[in-house]
Amino acid sequence: MAEIIDGKAVAADVVETVKQATAKLLADKGVVPGLAVVIVGEDPASQIYVSSKSKMAKECGFHSVQHTLAAETREDTLLDLIGKLNADPAIHGILVQLPLPGHIEEGKVIQAIAPEKDVDGFSFVNVGKLGTGEMATAFVPCTPAGSMILLERARGRDLSGLNAVVVGRSNIVGKPMANLLLAANCTVTIAHSRTRDLPALCRTADILIAAVGRPQMIRGDWIKQGATVIDVGINRIPAPEKGEDKTRVVGDVAFDEAMETAGAITPVPRGVGPMTIAMLMANTLTSACRSAGVEPPRL
Ligand code: GUN
Repeated sequence: MAEIIDGKAVAADVVETVKQATAKLLADKGVVPGLAVVIVGEDPASQIYVSSKSKMAKECGFHSVQHTLAAETREDTLLDLIGKLNADPAIHGILVQLPLPGHIEEGKVIQAIAPEKDVDGFSFVNVGKLGTGEMATAFVPCTPAGSMILLERARGRDLSGLNAVVVGRSNIVGKPMANLLLAANCTVTIAHSRTRDLPALCRTADILIAAVGRPQMIRGDWIKQGATVIDVGINRIPAPEKGEDKTRVVGDVAFDEAMETAGAITPVPRGVGPMTIAMLMANTLTSACRSAGVEPPRL
């Protein structure tokens, strides 16, 4: 039976480190980390994510501001707001919740965020820094950064020479995850919907990252004996056993099957999910530390 990697506990540990470093930053330098979260429109899932980000920021002792804009907000109005936040010295991190309404060009908005406040790590500058190893000034996207911490807690910090397969090639998870694993000296393969014989490829993985967004797609017999499995998927499926119209959340991995072969695995929920918010806090603190000229804490 696999070890279950407790993402909720690791996230709580990261948040505790952030809280302590935040208190020290205030005591030593008089700086309070500031996070601005921007949401456009009324997508219910996005609203839940955004309010939990703002709430966690307050809990960490941050200056936390939320800008809720109407769905029909014009692109240039949003760009003006980003310009003001870029110029505001009390704000160290800016997050614009995605997806944005169709009439707003997402790429344009992301690139408008000052790279040194881009705590999502989505701007060209931060993507380039991650790709070239300029980690001292980069921001790494929160979900892959959190997945890396879970991996290191499960396997130790030395991942050198391990075969890693990343299933999924998104800009938010798959590609940055592959870059992080490569920087950690893994032999990395990125698989996607056109990959031939995906089960056979997955069986070569000492580290398997599932980030496809398809419920329970990765089966137990695709997993190498003893592999570490990080399940990034958050999929809602019908759960008739809980009653009519009820749903439950599952990952991209068939968890019960995977438990038989994996060495360690993240559950869904309580796996990668809580790490994403914790890493947003860590990135915001890092930004404030950099602006104050102090070393951010090691996580
Ligand atoms: N929407 C879903 N995940 C994310 C994320 O990590 N950052 C932002 N900004 N929006 C998201």
